[in-house]
Amino acid sequence: MSQTDFTRLAQYPGSGCEKYDRRAEIFGREDVIPLWVADMDFPAPDFVTQALAARLADGAFGYAKPTAEHLSAITGWLAGQHDWHVGPETIVPVPGVVPAMAMAIRAFTTPGARVIIQPPVYFPFFQVVRDQGRELVENPLVEQASADGGRRYVMDFAALEAQAREAEMLLLCNPHNPGGRAWDARELEQVVAICARHGVMVMSDEIHMDLTYPGIRHTPFARVADAAGCRWFTVTAPGKTFNTAGIGGGYAVIPDAAIRERFDRERRGMHLGEGSVFGLTALKAAYTHGTHWPDELMAHIAVNRDRVIEAVSDLPIEPMWPEATYLLWLDCRGMGLSDAAADPEDRALQRFFIDEAGLGLSQGIIFGEAGRGYMRINLATPTRVMDRAMAQLRQAAVRVFSQ
Ligand SMILES: Cc1ncc(COP(=O)(O)O)c(C=O)c1O
Repeated sequence: MSQTDFTRLAQYPGSGCEKYDRRAEIFGREDVIPLWVADMDFPAPDFVTQALAARLADGAFGYAKPTAEHLSAITGWLAGQHDWHVGPETIVPVPGVVPAMAMAIRAFTTPGARVIIQPPVYFPFFQVVRDQGRELVENPLVEQASADGGRRYVMDFAALEAQAREAEMLLLCNPHNPGGRAWDARELEQVVAICARHGVMVMSDEIHMDLTYPGIRHTPFARVADAAGCRWFTVTAPGKTFNTAGIGGGYAVIPDAAIRERFDRERRGMHLGEGSVFGLTALKAAYTHGTHWPDELMAHIAVNRDRVIEAVSDLPIEPMWPEATYLLWLDCRGMGLSDAAADPEDRALQRFFIDEAGLGLSQGIIFGEAGRGYMRINLATPTRVMDRAMAQLRQAAVRVFSQ
């Protein structure tokens, strides 16, 4: 049963959506095909839109609070999708994953404390640490050749061990945006061992947990961290999976009662409420009726992934093979174009994509210095849009590189 239309563009210019309506500001022109912000072009699945429509018809928009049904939708989802079994008391509602990160840093680290992140990584990881007045410690991922001849990111455990001695917290991105890694249990066990040894608290951001490609499983950090002496908790949300990011709402999973109480105190102190009417409605509908949705979605995304990989196969662009997320990380260093974030005049790589190819991608360097020379493309669009984007890219490459 098809639950959505993967050919329909649900977002469009003038609808107040960031992806289309910030093109002039971000790219300097409004005619680029926007393949940047991490949301999807097609509509949310119909079981979500129908639940929202029913709630809208109710007209009941007062203060919201998760009920036992919401909590059991969450615990049921984690158990059914990820074989991760937690009780409803472990769930703490949060307005979003990034706000939860800010709360966690405030709750569990001291002013000026060192907080580790693993770039290239989703750029708010940098900002949220600095905004709380903590010291950012970068533990860059390392590129490794994989058995199939491709490349993938791995963690630098030796550096992590050294950095953990002086740090209070690690912000883990699992699965990883933009690298597309679904960290495996052996890798996560090493993170746990290092962080347990040095008393580093781990916050695992698992917002991309449902978005693994066919044949690949997400490993919740909980699976390896429980009973290993590591202080940790996870934050996630249904927004990426079901394309409801603009509605907002997520949740933390915190099995340890003392950690939960401390986090919740911070959350309550911010007076942000326990969710929005529409966020909770979308979450319950998604987690109750969406069991088959991630597979259906990722089958569509896999088609687009393969189209892009094929289109760039004879260009000096190396895609990093993704295990998860609808984002594809393109190593464009072989194009020999400069990529200097600080100097707007010296962004030849980004200018090539904007001016020559007519594409609005995310510039790799915003994910940290390790992203210099890379571009991130969002695959969650109708295949005809992806094909048009790739045709434009290839024409531009021929024009520019055969001169
Ligand atoms: C790794 C990661 N964490 C968090 C977010 C955003 O989460 P939220 O909108 O719930 O703050 C994103 C969005 O792209 C993301 O990729």
